[in-house]
Amino acid sequence: MSKVIAVIGAQWGDEGKGKIVDLLAERFDIVARYQGGHNAGHSVQVGDQSFVLHLLPSGIVHRGKTCVLGNGMVIDPKAFFVEADRLTQQGIEVSPERVKISSRAHLILPYHRALDHTSEERLGNEKVGTTLRGIGPAYEDKAGRRGIRTADALVPDVLRSRIERNLEDANRIIEAYGGERLDVDEIFKEMSVLTERLAPFIADTTHYLNVAATEGRSILLEGAQATLLDVDHGTYPFVTSSTTVAGGAIIGTGLAPQRLNGVLGIVRTYTTRVGEGPFPTEMLEGEAELGQMIRERGREYGASTGRPRRCGWFDAFATRYAAEINGFSSVALTKLDVLDTLDEIKVCTGYKLNGKVCESLPAVSQDLRRVEPVYATLPGWRSSTLGMTEMSSLPTNARRYVDFLSEQIGVEIGLVSTGPERMQTIIVQDSALGGWLRDSK
Ligand code: GDP
Ligand code: IMO
Ligand code: MG
Repeated sequence: MSKVIAVIGAQWGDEGKGKIVDLLAERFDIVARYQGGHNAGHSVQVGDQSFVLHLLPSGIVHRGKTCVLGNGMVIDPKAFFVEADRLTQQGIEVSPERVKISSRAHLILPYHRALDHTSEERLGNEKVGTTLRGIGPAYEDKAGRRGIRTADALVPDVLRSRIERNLEDANRIIEAYGGERLDVDEIFKEMSVLTERLAPFIADTTHYLNVAATEGRSILLEGAQATLLDVDHGTYPFVTSSTTVAGGAIIGTGLAPQRLNGVLGIVRTYTTRVGEGPFPTEMLEGEAELGQMIRERGREYGASTGRPRRCGWFDAFATRYAAEINGFSSVALTKLDVLDTLDEIKVCTGYKLNGKVCESLPAVSQDLRRVEPVYATLPGWRSSTLGMTEMSSLPTNARRYVDFLSEQIGVEIGLVSTGPERMQTIIVQDSALGGWLRDSK
């Protein structure tokens, strides 16, 4: 039977999706991204070799796996080739035989990057803190029915006329906010060269994936960003502009919904956030030092932008919400080792707003800034779990912590990650996903 599994971040990103996708990719024929673009930064460590993937699925590190960039993505061709060239230098094959870019994926053009800057400047104190990669403006053009898809770009007349039309509007906004006017000819020339180079990679990936599934090939769908950054379900407006949740895996690949056999949630044992926006369990004021310590131990600096990540306690209330929306069949719990030195560990089990217990996650970001987290405090284990591969080796308090999080999220833990390296992983149980996890060891 074919298996199609989605891997989805449960928090605000950087949960360790890259590590887990790399670990599982061995058991799959195809690894596909379905949304976002090079705003993502997915780290993979194999032995002493490190890779950071932005546009390419983390499965690229495995020889012989086909990688798909689905229709739901926004692709900056320049960034694609920078990444492809870097991977080639690292000994990874990035060829049209193994990398397929959807003919329906939208392109990020230079004016999208400029508009991302302008939009953030205009927002001032209210800015989102985007990665400034042009992601939001590219999705705006897509929804506004003026975007340029990879296949459109191969037709010079279409490419030229769309650039002309879009740039007229973009330049008006850019100039109004003191930016420098962009030139049609320059952009057309640059994009023509890039898309010509991109042409061999462009394919009807929707058809390709559905045929693959029908023929019994297995597909791993790699989410980027995460549930709380989803444009509908996240902490709007401090979100990214795509559908990051499980439903997005269907829309962003064109796979029929009933093909999806399971959803693996990636959950970090604490929380981080990059950029602006509400973060109820953030370690601030009295806990700032602790936050800094976790940032250093967990190397919490953006894999794409290098920005320090804001750190906070595990938020079980928000993660339950993520489990609900995505229907997690199983959870991979990551970065347990980062908490090794703590005496006590706090877990947010619920929120109060105006003294009342919240039934569900507040929709309005102003409310989310004001909620008071309700905490449970658990004892730490104060010994190293780094690199452990068996549940039985974990200190008792570490096991209790894992069990407590599982209870709180309401989903079984399939995997526990104890270090950045591929093999620094405990396979706990995999019944919820049909037994394929243990096979992947
Ligand atoms: P992603 O965006 O979800 O793929 O996550 P990132 O790669 O941006 O950030 C996760 C970081 O944590 C990377 O540097 C990983 O190498 C690292 N990492 C993943 N799992 C573990 C773990 O279990 N322990 C430790 N110490 N680091 C981990
Ligand atoms: P991975 O896949 C963490 C955040 C940005 C900003 C918001 C919108 O590595 O988990 P955008 O450039 O997408 O318009 O920015 O989303 N953001 C991420 N935060 N990890 C990511 O990706 C992110 N991609 C975007 O910081 O707050
Ligand atoms: Mg990341």
